[in-house]
Amino acid sequence: MKKITWWEPEIGQAERDILAEVLAGNFVNDGDYTTRFEERIAALVGCRYAVGVTSCTSAIFLALKAAGVGPGDEVIVPDATFIATANAATMAGAKAVLVDIEAETLNMSPAAFEAAITPRTKAVVPVHVSGRAARLPEIAAIAKAHNIVLIEDAAEAFLSKLDGQSLGTYGRMGCLSFSPMKLITTGQGGMVLTNDPDLHVLLRQLKDQGRPVRGTGGKDPHPIVGYNFKFTNIQAAVGLGQLDKLDERVAHVKAMYRAYEKNLKGLNAMRLLPSRIDEGELPLWVDVVVERRDELARYLRDRGIDSREYWNPIHTQPSYRLPDDRFPTATRLLPKSLWLPSAFSVTEADVARVCDTIREFLAQ
Ligand SMILES: Cc1ncc(COP(=O)(O)O)c(C=O)c1O
Repeated sequence: MKKITWWEPEIGQAERDILAEVLAGNFVNDGDYTTRFEERIAALVGCRYAVGVTSCTSAIFLALKAAGVGPGDEVIVPDATFIATANAATMAGAKAVLVDIEAETLNMSPAAFEAAITPRTKAVVPVHVSGRAARLPEIAAIAKAHNIVLIEDAAEAFLSKLDGQSLGTYGRMGCLSFSPMKLITTGQGGMVLTNDPDLHVLLRQLKDQGRPVRGTGGKDPHPIVGYNFKFTNIQAAVGLGQLDKLDERVAHVKAMYRAYEKNLKGLNAMRLLPSRIDEGELPLWVDVVVERRDELARYLRDRGIDSREYWNPIHTQPSYRLPDDRFPTATRLLPKSLWLPSAFSVTEADVARVCDTIREFLAQ
């Protein structure tokens, strides 16, 4: 029986061809292919600037640094996210302040965000989990009223939209990930999006040892202290190749969600998390809330079906430990949340098999 994977990257001939070109050209650093990839991404999401970096973690870190976040500052992040969001704040020397989520979407609760604001709050980083838009209009209004910088963690939300606008372009800056489980991958990689020309220059300096333009490592000016988060031509070659399949992938992701929606209809024991596809949301990974989640994941695995359990709430990790009762929704729902197979290789027949197997389990 076919093994159904929850996610896997796909690399095609276009990636190999462009990569061969880069290798033959012998310029393997951050270069012209990087610029081409940055420009393609900026055009696709509809923003002025995109700055390629090594990962989304470094993208969030750089965005925080560019916003002036440092020691003594607080950065508000949701309790339900990949730990990278909190770690980026910690890397910047700030305190990551965790807030609870909403049951409906598993995204940051605007009320919890507002309640956590202190005079030290410098930035807020909402996350669009599985491509599902956080409540940006409310979060942005609260942030504005308190002079807090809004930086979006759009790691899982490339090409997902809210009210016709791409996620990652609402805040002062937005951050994308091109790690292997994403719509497109460059192995590792990320991008900071912004419309602000000054931030654009600052981000370029920060990603490359304080240099505002690509240098030689020789007699370059370094007006500020920076880091090395360059995104190489090699990564960009893979990224440019991946873009060839974009339309196909977007269509696939939407079809996958609709197939699950159809096959899980009427199944009260399992809640499919929402995706407003008709309004432009792109559900990168299909996710559900279900009792006996770990048992179900095992049951599926034994029958050749992969899934992925949700992250543990960040407040349960040793570096960020806080009492459960401060995060009632994340504490209750994350251990019941599961990503179902959403890989490009998953067919509608596979979805039917996954859902039949789930019904079989729930009937026990
Ligand atoms: C919500 C979220 N934020 C941040 C990251 C970190 O991205 P990267 O692995 O590119 O550093 C990821 C995933 O990889 C993620 O899912």
